[in-house]
Amino acid sequence: MIKPYQIIGIGITFVFSSWAASIAMANEAELKIALSLADVLRASRTEIANQQARINDPDIGDKGLSADVISSNIIKALAANGKADPTAADPSTLEGRLLIAQLEAIREIINENQMLINSKDIGFKGFVPAVFTQLVNERFGEKVGTEAELKVTAPVHLVRNRKARPDKWERSVIEDRFSAADWPTGKLFAENTADSGGDAFRVMVPEYYGQACLSCHGAEKGEMDITGYPKEGGALGDLGGSISITLYQQ
Ligand code: HEC
Repeated sequence: MIKPYQIIGIGITFVFSSWAASIAMANEAELKIALSLADVLRASRTEIANQQARINDPDIGDKGLSADVISSNIIKALAANGKADPTAADPSTLEGRLLIAQLEAIREIINENQMLINSKDIGFKGFVPAVFTQLVNERFGEKVGTEAELKVTAPVHLVRNRKARPDKWERSVIEDRFSAADWPTGKLFAENTADSGGDAFRVMVPEYYGQACLSCHGAEKGEMDITGYPKEGGALGDLGGSISITLYQQ
């Protein structure tokens, strides 16, 4: 009498633990993909930050910042940080497809802005890292929107671009987790979610203001920055935003 019960018991335990393990393994693979996309996003944004002086130089016409130059700088920067070359990713995998789409989006946005970048006699052009990243993320969404989404969002009171406003889930991660006094700086948050867009694996990576951010997002609060937005009055190390990565379950 007892034996069958034990077998069923063991069976249930086994099924449950293997199910839990497979979910955990699936998430590990998805987390790796999400973080690869975040790495490329950050490397490309840093590249545009590094090129600001050149982009805004009114004395040069052709800046030599073609899609080839920019993407090869991004790949070099990734390599210098021990990250894989996204162009070497296997296009038959989800990770490969997404990374290739992301790099294509970067190249297209650089190509489409050549006239602006190369215009002479204009100093500041407004082609700042955040604007570039927003455009790239939108283009990426046009390419792979049913599979994945990339976004840079921020605490509600800091949002500049309406398109960057956090959705309900992002907002709760920012307010209930990243803003908690005991949340370790830099710690990401990942979760399986179900919403109108379908089941998804979602990751948020918090971002903090560094010195370079404060010329636009720092003091004095309300004073115009060079881009024409009022400064937020942020301080060094404040939570400034979050990279948000969504991978939809297929
Ligand atoms: C030259 C000024 C400037 C600097 C420097 C700057 N930003 Fe921004 N930031 C902007 C602008 C302009 C936007 C809005 C972009 C858009 O219209 O999509 C923005 C948007 C953002 C957003 C997206 C949410 C939103 O409000 O639209 C975050 C997050 C952000 N910045 C964080 C940072 C961080 C972190 C740094 C430093 C690493 C930084 N910024 C440096 C001008 C700047």
